Amino acid sequence: MCGIVALIGSREAAPQLLEGLRHLEYRGYDSAGIATVALAAGATGGGQLHCLKAEGKLINLTARYEALGAPGQCGIGHTRWATHGKPEERNAHPHLDGSGRLAVVQNGIIENHRSLREELQAEGVTFLSDTDTEVIPHLIARRLGLLQAADQATDAALLLRAVQDVLPLLQGAYALAVVWAEVPSGLVVARKQAPLLIGLGEGEFLCASDTPALAGFTRTILPMEDGEVALLTPLGIELYDAQGARVQRSPSLLSGTEHVADKRSFRHFMLKEIHEQPETAALWVARHLPEDGPLPSPEGLSLVALPLDEEVYENVERIQILACGTSRHAAQVGAHLLEQLAGIPTSVYYASEFRYSPPPLVPHMLTIGVTQSGETADTLAALAMEQERRQLMADPAFAPKLLGITNRPESSLGRLVPHLLDIGAGIEVGVAATKTFLGQLLAFYGLAVAFAERRGHGSGGPDPQRLRALVAELRGLPALLQQLVESHDQRCADLAHLFAETQDVIFLGRGINYPIAMEGALKLKEISYIHAEGYPAGEMKHGPIALLDARVPVVSIAVPGTVFEKVLSNAQEAKARDAQLIGVAPACPDTEQLFDLLLPLPEVDELLSPLLTVIPMQLLSYHIAAHRGLDVDQPRNLAKSVTVE
Ligand code: F6R
Repeated sequence: MCGIVALIGSREAAPQLLEGLRHLEYRGYDSAGIATVALAAGATGGGQLHCLKAEGKLINLTARYEALGAPGQCGIGHTRWATHGKPEERNAHPHLDGSGRLAVVQNGIIENHRSLREELQAEGVTFLSDTDTEVIPHLIARRLGLLQAADQATDAALLLRAVQDVLPLLQGAYALAVVWAEVPSGLVVARKQAPLLIGLGEGEFLCASDTPALAGFTRTILPMEDGEVALLTPLGIELYDAQGARVQRSPSLLSGTEHVADKRSFRHFMLKEIHEQPETAALWVARHLPEDGPLPSPEGLSLVALPLDEEVYENVERIQILACGTSRHAAQVGAHLLEQLAGIPTSVYYASEFRYSPPPLVPHMLTIGVTQSGETADTLAALAMEQERRQLMADPAFAPKLLGITNRPESSLGRLVPHLLDIGAGIEVGVAATKTFLGQLLAFYGLAVAFAERRGHGSGGPDPQRLRALVAELRGLPALLQQLVESHDQRCADLAHLFAETQDVIFLGRGINYPIAMEGALKLKEISYIHAEGYPAGEMKHGPIALLDARVPVVSIAVPGTVFEKVLSNAQEAKARDAQLIGVAPACPDTEQLFDLLLPLPEVDELLSPLLTVIPMQLLSYHIAAHRGLDVDQPRNLAKSVTVE
């Protein structure tokens, strides 16, 4: 949550800061601000700080910049997702010290801000905002005052020293950037459990929370490690670890950021990203499903080619998956596949719950973290906690084995876990996850087939013919998706007006499609603000059916297979309570007769059906929200990357 940028070089900083923030707006859009430092006319040493802030989206800040300007070749910027303090201008970053000459932007949460605030207030400091961040400029200013009083030269090194001295006082997770009017040619950045990368340009450096802000500026990046602090000047980067020791590290090259933010002819990024799913699937099939290999056998494991070390599969008796939100729904489909196809007992946890109430340790466990952004604080912390507690165990059977599934291999997740599956879905801008969800599902199909092949028929794995048939159907997925997205786009657009007054929607599914019902409900909630619940269809009669009447539409996912008849009966029960029934099901006499409206599906193996049933869920939510005139790509109160607890 929140995005920060910082730039130092030889040209005006503000336009590049605003451009960087534009690419970070997905991290929050409650307010935005920049602070630049310009050499004061005729001054020899210090400069002048210019700070601009605006409530709401970046466009408001840009208008303010165009009217007022913010000169200087060094500056910092911030786009906010409110945690402490309402989304008002006074809580917008940057926050200043009492003299108004030192400015700080921060992404994260300073957990001990209350006690620090009280301490500073007792010393006479006045606070202007309700944020946790505002303690930081005051603490740095206090430290600078002490260092200056001890006759230290006023230069960039002094600012670095003051920041290094203050960081140990801060508890929590943060990425921050600091400018000081006394040193117009230096700025300091630091991170602890929140991402920060430095981009190396020609005679200039741009630091940002995430790669999209750097793409277009440079391809050469230096990701900062946890606890590191850096001093940036036009001459170079000085990098230090948490103990203050100088660090030398080579930069790396950014990949895959070419297709940044372009809506093409679509009205919203979300719709564009829904339409990109056939391509996501086609790329995945091309990369991971080698053409018609031989039948799986111990000597010729061949149906799926994942770029994972063989060690990932060895000695795995159980799997646990940690994730949040949409990623957790993908994990639930994954667990179904790993259990039903590969015969491996698999549990899925909310990462935020797992952190504080982990299950007892069991041996031979593979832990999978799923996060499209690779930056979700809860998922990272849960994985780190699992790694630590297993490292303390003497018995090698309990050793940590961690695998990450992400769309951002360069993220914090990529640096935390030793094994990584890159879903390669390309940058997703819409806050509601769509094509990355499909990418996560595909990663699980690959993983489940790979495990099933290795376990072999007879020891929990499926019949090789069945596996082979599934993989053959997966090869045909891109074409099916193409057809489905195209046909349902207009269908769902035509239905959207029926939901103009709707306040509650129930989504029903069973078996492998229960997580898809939950995903349908989540999509609808987050972008249309309509209350929605995803339920296992058989559970309705145990309470929730009391909610149903003619005003509550029910979307029911019914695909032929183990629970088809059961789901149809459950839908019938809803119909008997006057609910309007929308079916996501193949067109056949039974479904055409039962459902008031049908979003028809092609028939596929039940195990593959989530890859198709999710498409009408996404399109229905999209069109309902768009029809209501809502900001589909940036829904209220949300951010794409949830980097706070
Ligand atoms: C919903 C959505 C969120 C995310 C969740 C986890 O559309 O996008 O529920 O799935 O915040 O995010 P990642 O996958 O980045 O860990």
